[in-house]
Amino acid sequence: MSNAFYSPGDQRAAKVNDLFTAIARRYDLLNDLQSFGLHRRWKNRVAELAAVGSSQRALDVCCGTGDIALALAHSGAEVTGLDFSQAMLKIANSRSQKSEARSQNIVFHAPVFVQGDAMQLPFPDNSFDAVTVGYGLRNLASWEAGLGEMVRVSKPGGRVVVLDFGKPPNRLWRVIYFLHLKISVPLMGRLFCGNADAYAYILESLKHYPAQYGVAEKMRELKLSNVRIVNLVGGAMAINYGEKPV
Ligand SMILES: C[S@@+](CC[C@H](N)C(=O)[O-])C[C@H]1O[C@@H](n2cnc3c(N)ncnc32)[C@H](O)[C@@H]1O
Repeated sequence: MSNAFYSPGDQRAAKVNDLFTAIARRYDLLNDLQSFGLHRRWKNRVAELAAVGSSQRALDVCCGTGDIALALAHSGAEVTGLDFSQAMLKIANSRSQKSEARSQNIVFHAPVFVQGDAMQLPFPDNSFDAVTVGYGLRNLASWEAGLGEMVRVSKPGGRVVVLDFGKPPNRLWRVIYFLHLKISVPLMGRLFCGNADAYAYILESLKHYPAQYGVAEKMRELKLSNVRIVNLVGGAMAINYGEKPV
């Protein structure tokens, strides 16, 4: 089955950009509804694993409306968020301006948001102490190239952290979860965003993405160390972690 927003070829980036332009305004609301607010906890876990502190630099790729970039900034790091969608970046910028330090012990630097392509990051090699991505790699024309770019711009010893929809190892749970992505998620998209197709895209894109086990294999191929998978909700969501060798 195909989807109005899924295209495997050269049109991939343009279609994905259309998709996020269409849903940007309701993106945060739908995330809260579909995950019962849990996505915030998973994104905070990404920031914990990135383990950056003051005077360190972090990059969040495909930053969208800025959740992970803001979580990283609350640890005192200098954070850059990168995305190619002007519509998503506009929301990220306005949220960032309203943010303040959560703790008196930390100097909060508002993240800097830049427009750019995750497949060709506009940063020199070895620039960041941690590079993160949430629900982003799956959308790229080549997720392998995107991961390669994240590794390239990480400093030696830097942490590379990837959060995305997973493929549960348990067969029964995988069937139930895929039915949820096929039926209830597009229904919520239709009800709250007026756009079922944009949310049917999640399952379509996941079918073409190897998820946590494939990403872990690729991290090993890229010679990252301490590669591990943190499965969440029985592997329906997952975080991949690796460190660039020193
Ligand atoms: C599902 S959203 C994730 C947003 C955010 N990271 C989060 O977890 O809520 C995916 C984001 O990736 C961005 N994106 C997709 N392909 C991209 C590319 N090639 N370069 C930069 N950003 C891209 C989209 O514009 C969108 O904001």
